Amino acid sequence: MTVAAGPPRGWFLGSLLLSVTGCLASIGSSRIIAGEDCSPYSQPWQAALFTGNEFFCGGVLVHPQWVLSAAHCFQNSYTVGLGLHSLDDDQEPGACMMETSLSIQHPDYNKPFYANDLMLIKLKESVSPSATIRNISIASQCPTAGDSCLVSGWGQLKNGRQPNVLQCVNISVVSEESCSALYDFIYHPSMFCAGGGHDQKDSCKGDSGGPVVCKGHLQGLVSFGQAQCGQPYIPGVYTNLCKFTDWIQKTIQAS
Ligand SMILES: *[C@@H]1O[C@H](CO)[C@@H](O)[C@H](O)[C@H]1NC(C)=O
Ligand SMILES: *[C@@H]1O[C@H](CO)[C@@H](O)[C@H](O)[C@H]1NC(C)=O
Repeated sequence: MTVAAGPPRGWFLGSLLLSVTGCLASIGSSRIIAGEDCSPYSQPWQAALFTGNEFFCGGVLVHPQWVLSAAHCFQNSYTVGLGLHSLDDDQEPGACMMETSLSIQHPDYNKPFYANDLMLIKLKESVSPSATIRNISIASQCPTAGDSCLVSGWGQLKNGRQPNVLQCVNISVVSEESCSALYDFIYHPSMFCAGGGHDQKDSCKGDSGGPVVCKGHLQGLVSFGQAQCGQPYIPGVYTNLCKFTDWIQKTIQAS
């Protein structure tokens, strides 16, 4: 079976009032489909991207001053939320709402179609690690079929609603052979497939750019999938970060 590629998984989810930028005082079922509320602050590298007052994509803190996201989440300006469980920063005493100074899409993004879907966003200031905020290392090893990985995000739930708090779901990596057979000419080594079990666990609109964590390392970013999320036996597609460790390191060092 071959499937058509659906839209990238970035999405505007209506407005949320953002108050101020900076860090606040510290404290001691989305596309994520068929997931559950994450244990609060269990994914301290999770970032939320806002433009204007709208949440639209996820991201991942990979360095105290840099967030990785999907290239298709590119905007002219962003506010990056860190240390959030709920997207409402007024309810999040350990959160930081950071301004950004630049964003750099991978030079080969969308060459070919949908490939190389990653970008780096630089925060105006570094964040200090805390109980709710911490950077994660990027996997240098590529994923293996059957690896169990955790995906998180504030994307659309199965009922089409946006969740109040961060959602988590475990999915398994799918073999390169199955992924390329399914996505056919769209498949590229800069991607891997995961999910697609009978349990319908999946990521969805609004999860784009968010983390896929396998064995304690950042393995992928939510990229795209079918227009209808959570279909049984159809995995989602994730940016294969093991192919980009050099580019990420060099870009951070040079900027
Ligand atoms: C966080 O980033 C710093 C700076 O690059 C790095 O030294 C540290 O190892 C990173 N922490 C993790 C857990 O990767
Ligand atoms: C994901 O799997 C890990 C390891 O088996 C487990 O501890 C965790 O509770 C699972 N999380 C979810 C959201 O299913």
